[in-house]
Amino acid sequence: MTRRMTRDDLVAEIQCLKKEKQAVILAHNYQVGEVQAVADFVGDSLDLSLRAAETDARIIVFAGVHFMAETAAILSPDKKVLIPSLEAGCSLADSVTTEDILRWREKHPEGVVVSYVNTTAEVKAVSDYCCTSSNAVKVVAQIPEGREILFVPDFFLGTYVMRQTGRRLTLWPGHCHVHYRFTLSRLLDLLEAVPKARLLVHPESQASWVLSELVQQGQVPADRVQFASTGGMVRAAAEAPEGSVFLIATEVGLVQRLQREFPNKTFMPVDEEAVCEFMKMTTLEGVYRSLRDEVYPVTVPEEIRQRAERALRRMLEIR
Ligand code: 13P
Ligand code: SF4
Repeated sequence: MTRRMTRDDLVAEIQCLKKEKQAVILAHNYQVGEVQAVADFVGDSLDLSLRAAETDARIIVFAGVHFMAETAAILSPDKKVLIPSLEAGCSLADSVTTEDILRWREKHPEGVVVSYVNTTAEVKAVSDYCCTSSNAVKVVAQIPEGREILFVPDFFLGTYVMRQTGRRLTLWPGHCHVHYRFTLSRLLDLLEAVPKARLLVHPESQASWVLSELVQQGQVPADRVQFASTGGMVRAAAEAPEGSVFLIATEVGLVQRLQREFPNKTFMPVDEEAVCEFMKMTTLEGVYRSLRDEVYPVTVPEEIRQRAERALRRMLEIR
């Protein structure tokens, strides 16, 4: 009878396979702790796409969701990109199609399409720019005034970008079901209940639009609230003095990362049930199988890849 592999065996095998196959593991901040622990890099969508573009590894195992692995395949066409679970999608990315964008373009031939990185390769291919939660404001701000802009697919990130840039955008009515849980009343109640805490809010949150307005009007003190990507939250936590207390409005995987890395600071999830089931489909066993059997390859047809790469590279140049 074959012995069942222990967690330590799995970790050791993964490390061996990485060397043998010249592979790197890139993991998103929402991945479970044991997957983050075997990764060569853990970060947000922007940092992960930069790593994918720069790596000289032969294989990239992407511990994240499908659009992230696709982004790696677009930016690194000579690498083999693998995703451990084919079911790891994203409800937000599925909320807009190429046809939706082409219809808008027909009516607005001079318009500019900015698509959040949480989109399919096909949608990126019919977009002018991509953006992530950490650079969306910069990407929109550099588009010449007077140009019509369609921002897809996250409505709440779009409202936040409108407020920060003062630009009018046509917004797509998509949202992330996890960040939809972060309502204004929940965030305001917690700010009141934990007066020494600073609130870190992902701009995909349902409250982004009104909360950013309340901060701008001085009704909520600006030093108590910060909007940030998951990577921006890690940086904010790293820079804060020992003993700091944070309320975290994003998926719980990030809260767990923060608590592990900064044990002398306190991180309170705004909602313990804010779990992205797609991100949790990747397991340590899945990563091991992915490396061992080289499954599941993520590829993008060359004609789509080249057009999607243009939108991604335009974003990367703006940083
Ligand atoms: P970040 O780029 O901030 O990590 O966000 C990705 C995401 O999917 C948020 O739900
Ligand atoms: Fe998509 Fe939301 Fe999950 Fe992020 S948290 S991957 S936006 S479903």
